[in-house]
Amino acid sequence: MNKKISFAGPSITEKEVEYVTDAVKNGWYENFDGYIEKLEKAFAQYVGVRYAVATFCCTHALHLAAAALGLQAGDEVIVTDFSWVATAYAVAYTGASCVFVDIEPETWTIDPACIRKAITRKTRAIMLVHTFGHPAEMREIMDISREYGLFVIEDAAPAVGAEYHGKRVGGFGDVSCCSFQGAKMTVSGEGGMFLTNDPEIYRRARLLSSMGRTDSRAVFWSDYLGFEYVMSNLTAALALAQLERAEELMEKKRRIFHWYEERLSGVKGIRLVREKPGCKSNCCYPSMLLEDSFYADRDDVLAGLRRKNIHARPGFPQMSRFPVFEQRFPNPVSRRVEEHGISLPSAANLEEEDIDFVCRNLLRLIRRG
Ligand SMILES: Cc1ncc(COP(=O)(O)O)c(C=O)c1O
Repeated sequence: MNKKISFAGPSITEKEVEYVTDAVKNGWYENFDGYIEKLEKAFAQYVGVRYAVATFCCTHALHLAAAALGLQAGDEVIVTDFSWVATAYAVAYTGASCVFVDIEPETWTIDPACIRKAITRKTRAIMLVHTFGHPAEMREIMDISREYGLFVIEDAAPAVGAEYHGKRVGGFGDVSCCSFQGAKMTVSGEGGMFLTNDPEIYRRARLLSSMGRTDSRAVFWSDYLGFEYVMSNLTAALALAQLERAEELMEKKRRIFHWYEERLSGVKGIRLVREKPGCKSNCCYPSMLLEDSFYADRDDVLAGLRRKNIHARPGFPQMSRFPVFEQRFPNPVSRRVEEHGISLPSAANLEEEDIDFVCRNLLRLIRRG
């Protein structure tokens, strides 16, 4: 069998080994949270925001966002219909309702025109995703939020380093959240980051992330119903090493995307997700649509690739069809991507010959129909 062509996977160097080894040996006693502090500071600086809270995972950061903004039962939050379900569950944990709206066919990010149509008197916030590393249409989204007085949460889980008109994503909304989960561009196994410029939102998130502990009336006193969401110092050491290599890791991702682009653009029936003008994607997960007119079945194509040890992924199912939610809009673009979308392998250990192998097999499968 040929080499496994993994969907995702990290690049680990001596730097990561050195930081983690140091955390294991020395990250105790007076240094017990040294790497957490360094990581939070470095991440806030990297994105260009004032405050950061390192969390066990991005799902926790998203939940903190929804909770710190005071979302609750009776509120509506407009959420993209195309994402990993953590985006929506983070809202649902607070009791607020998710109103799912459609995505743009070019970038698979939330469609601002659909946001406008979904606003009601109950709407409190917009939860967007920088899908697979491509920035959402932030200018229009921020205009809408100002016009209607809505909070904006950026789910930037896969989008570390991506830019919208020269500014890093994660610096636009009231809160944004990133992930260090093992399939992301910068990894620490599990890991997340909560970001904000607002001192009060930061204060609430910090408190909620550590069991609402204030010590106000006694040691271990808690004044708020909080959560144990903090990141470990060991995890922070690995995440910091990865963050310091973010530009290099993004360059690799972008190179992989361009190898796909060279081989797949112009192929009848394939529509690659490309960068919109003014947007810089981190190309976390290069993705494409097998167009409706095309005869090949998407799941047959994925199965055929798997037989060659090539691990690609289908599009996410529409969250609005999950049993815990209600569907208000049909969101046909999300549905089309669910049924015909493919995310291509882009693990950090792939070279041009691997991408060539993927594309040759993909084209063979497609042409066979
Ligand atoms: C868009 C999106 N949001 C949230 C998450 C959750 O991140 P984590 O696994 O770090 O909790 C993911 C992770 O895959 C994601 O892709």
